[in-house]
Amino acid sequence: FSLKNYNTFGVDVSAKYFAEVNSVEDLLYVLKNHQPSTINHQPLFLGGGSNILLTKNFEGLVIQLNLKGISEEIIGENTVLVTAKSGENWHQFVQYCLEKNYGGLENLSLIPGNVGTSPMQNIGAYGVEIKDHFVSCKVLNLETFEIENFTNEECKFGYRESFFKREGKGKYVILEVTFQLTTKNHTIKTDYGAISTELENLGIHNPTIQDVSKAVIAIRQSKLPDPKVIGNAGSFFKNPSIPLEQFENLKQIFENIPGYPNGDLVKVPAGWLIEQCGWKGKQIGNVASHKLQALVIVNVTGNATGKEIFDFSTMIIDSVKEKFGIELEREVNII
Ligand code: EPU
Repeated sequence: FSLKNYNTFGVDVSAKYFAEVNSVEDLLYVLKNHQPSTINHQPLFLGGGSNILLTKNFEGLVIQLNLKGISEEIIGENTVLVTAKSGENWHQFVQYCLEKNYGGLENLSLIPGNVGTSPMQNIGAYGVEIKDHFVSCKVLNLETFEIENFTNEECKFGYRESFFKREGKGKYVILEVTFQLTTKNHTIKTDYGAISTELENLGIHNPTIQDVSKAVIAIRQSKLPDPKVIGNAGSFFKNPSIPLEQFENLKQIFENIPGYPNGDLVKVPAGWLIEQCGWKGKQIGNVASHKLQALVIVNVTGNATGKEIFDFSTMIIDSVKEKFGIELEREVNII
């Protein structure tokens, strides 16, 4: 079964077995009836396929999570709890909230992927992360087949990190996520420079949450490639944080190096490091670093293999390490 249409890189690998599930009952049925003796692998769970790189054929069962539905409960003057099932498309969910005038997720407009994978890596953009509005999620424990609840604290969110990406890896399937949003007095977050510039360009002075969403969409469309047109998985690497001393030393040599304080550390944009190494827009075979945002690796021709993309990313890691002494970490899950 070809997975080409199930990963945003558009890599053409196959799965030995494939199941699409639309309910928890379906999911349990598939899990209980697939024969572990004939399949050596744990199943691979797929959401929107927007944060994975498939490097080889998958010799086991792939389960596409397609649970749908959104519900909400007003719990105060200015507060609503909105719950979405894991198979809801993230951007459509954000737009649903904006149509209802529920505020909080607008800065996260147009992020690819599904609701169910958003807690995995605590998706974030333009000054907001889902942990800022996340209340809890329901998950299926793959050992006990019980449904459990995880609070915000229990998810141990960090920058592009969570319990589910570390200790809990492979042990749970996220079924639905609940967010706490505002209904009237919204907190507008335009501190991320590009948003205020974009709003100015649009001639908007007192932005609504819908305006913020429009600005974010415009920024993203101006530099991030649409996975439907050119295969990609967004930022391929995390932005590294380095000790202040190392940053000061680098600043002596590279005067323009950007850095943002992050506790005791300094966060350096990986896109800048990659661009300085000459990778921006550079193509090798079927793979390239995106011409408008070096941090995004793209399947330019549509024919790239996962291995080609992986090898390309290794070359980037090596050259950034050589020039700056900084080791980039991949953000995308490598399968
Ligand atoms: N930069 C360059 N050259 C490049 C790209 C970036 O010099 O080719 C430098 C510039 O100094 C720029 C700075 O990097 O000012 C920051 O760039 P940008 O605003 O595009 O953000 P980013 O740090 O590259 C992160 C997230 C994005 C998110 C944006 C906006 C990570 C790994 N990536 O990118 O998330 O949309 O901030 O908040 O943290 C994603 O995870 O897939 C993703 C797209």
